[in-house]
Amino acid sequence: MSADRLVIAIDGPSGSGKSSASRGVAKALGLAYLDTGAMYRAVACAFLDAGVEPSDEAGVIAATLGANLEISTDPDNQWVRVNGRDVTTAIREPEVSAKVSAVSTVAECRANLVSRQRAIIEAAPAGIVAEGRDITTVVAPDADVRLLLTADPEIRMARRQAELGDKVDAAQLADQVLRRDSDDSRLVNFTTAADGVTHLDGTYLTLPETIQAVLDLVAQARP
Ligand code: DC
Repeated sequence: MSADRLVIAIDGPSGSGKSSASRGVAKALGLAYLDTGAMYRAVACAFLDAGVEPSDEAGVIAATLGANLEISTDPDNQWVRVNGRDVTTAIREPEVSAKVSAVSTVAECRANLVSRQRAIIEAAPAGIVAEGRDITTVVAPDADVRLLLTADPEIRMARRQAELGDKVDAAQLADQVLRRDSDDSRLVNFTTAADGVTHLDGTYLTLPETIQAVLDLVAQARP
């Protein structure tokens, strides 16, 4: 562990609360914050903007490799741009959620985004909290603290519903949470903790309790 930098890796399925918890931990510790899911979503915007169909794998790969992707790592001011367009709001639209797996299930796209994510993590002067599906295992397996945050499916669907309100019906919600996790888990295992990764079940934890549990782990790793 480096004395002057701290890297915290947090993985988990949709609706596990990892984004809110990661942002809270970053703010508490004065670290940067990287939402890697936002990068997959921004690239989905890029291929949709280019008129590429999700089934056109070569087109999706070309759009990913050629994307000019810029993302904020300020936990208090999150934004993301792709090819010069601000897609901060667009990446949360149901169409993007429904089609982002066309990026995340293709190995070439993942490899490209993983190398961009590693560069962002290395460039954070004080360190960073990075969250996603493969941060503990692929992107930053040598992070100082590695955590898998899970929650029961009913709770995860309820949390996503609360975030999205009436933008989605029950079928879209199940698609966003359950179908997407099942597709994404074909290339990445984010349901069981790898060796050295702490598993935290957040089903019965509030957000402040989850943040505190992560801060406790950090304190143990860096007494
Ligand atoms: O966490 P999220 O819902 O914003 O993630 C968007 C999509 O990207 C989702 O389908 C999972 C995928 N993803 C991934 O495969 N690996 C990551 N490190 C982050 C997200």
